[in-house]
Amino acid sequence: MEEEKKKSKAKIIIPIVLAVIVIAGGAAWYLSRVETKLGRAGYDKAQIEIIKTLFSEEEQQALIEAEAQPDIITVAQSDRYQKEHFADYLKDLGSGKNASEVLNDYDPWVITLRGTEGYNEENLDLYLYSRKDGTAEDAAYTVNYVNMTLLYSKASDYDAKLFEAYEKYRAKAPDKTPEEIVFHVGKSRDYLDETYFIDAYLEKYEAYRAKNPDKTLEEVVRAVNSGIDKPFYTEMAETDMSKGYLIIVNKYNKLPEGYTPKLESLSGYGNGYMEPTAAAAFRKMVEAGREAGVSLRSLSPYRSHSLQTWQYQFWVDAHGQEMADRESARPGSSEHETGLAVDINTAVEESHFERTPEYAWLMEHCWEYGFIIRYREETEYITGYVFEPWHYRYVGVEHAEKIMKLGITYEEYYAYYINNPDYPETGGPAE
Ligand code: DAL
Ligand code: ZN
Repeated sequence: MEEEKKKSKAKIIIPIVLAVIVIAGGAAWYLSRVETKLGRAGYDKAQIEIIKTLFSEEEQQALIEAEAQPDIITVAQSDRYQKEHFADYLKDLGSGKNASEVLNDYDPWVITLRGTEGYNEENLDLYLYSRKDGTAEDAAYTVNYVNMTLLYSKASDYDAKLFEAYEKYRAKAPDKTPEEIVFHVGKSRDYLDETYFIDAYLEKYEAYRAKNPDKTLEEVVRAVNSGIDKPFYTEMAETDMSKGYLIIVNKYNKLPEGYTPKLESLSGYGNGYMEPTAAAAFRKMVEAGREAGVSLRSLSPYRSHSLQTWQYQFWVDAHGQEMADRESARPGSSEHETGLAVDINTAVEESHFERTPEYAWLMEHCWEYGFIIRYREETEYITGYVFEPWHYRYVGVEHAEKIMKLGITYEEYYAYYINNPDYPETGGPAE
């Protein structure tokens, strides 16, 4: 009987004990699960799911130890997250920083920005946005871009597309306020594609354009830069003699009365005299031409004032003043009086110098000796002279190379690169 009782007692106790063991084991297992630990550390179900995809087991362990800082999820989801800084992020979040602060602190771009002149912490989001936009990869550019944009954008006619133009103008006119810059560039926006546009001439361009509505903007800029918005010979200035070989004489600029250059004979290389440096350059050019199989000689180099007076009058008598003015300079306005110009081989249209190998060679090589062609084809409206394929002018190699390669007239070159009012210090834009 006793035996029976014992047996039935065991029958009851054993399952209970087993159940207790199973439950305790299950509970222990449950409590040891990472999910559980994360939940106890303060993360909710959805966050735990994200954590499992974002972080390694080791990192999950670190999260549990650090206890709930849900901002780490925001940090890790950012495209600026850097895995190697996981521990730093966690530590900094623990010390009270928010997600964007800790991201910034380890972002190499932000570190660069912070070391950049003009950096302003308040604009940081804009700097970051600007880079994300792909507009400004360089830190210095980004900082300037954002800082200046904030200033420009206060003006009522601000246009983000004109940022580069604002900056270009600001470099020329550093004293202008952002409002003035935005206003000026807004007015000149039609001209932004014109290479030789000079800001200081905007009003002149507009006046000339109003009077000549059929002209293209390029023609307007070329005309005003060359001074031809006024009729020839109506406003003669005494030319600036302080720029060495960069004298300009034309139908607006005349030589000082009685000017006579130093002269040297071109004997052996053709007629007459030139200024000594120009003469040496001419000889070198003739010799180089000779080696290349072309024959160059000076026909008419320096002319005295009285010779130019005689010559101009000769053409007036022969062709009448209107035609003479297209062929010959009035005394005081001829390059030949500077000793820096030379007519090569011929001086009449009928000989068609432009069809000779000599002309072709000069077009390619004259700049190497400091010479430029002065009265090009199709530029009569600028220079006031018909095409003179024979007339070359010494300006020195540096300028001659640029003028010939740019293919512009000396008038335009002088206006933009030598005498540019936008660059009063240097005379012209930096190349
Ligand atoms: N034939 C050129 C323009 C001069 O007389 O100077
Ligand atoms: Zn000439």
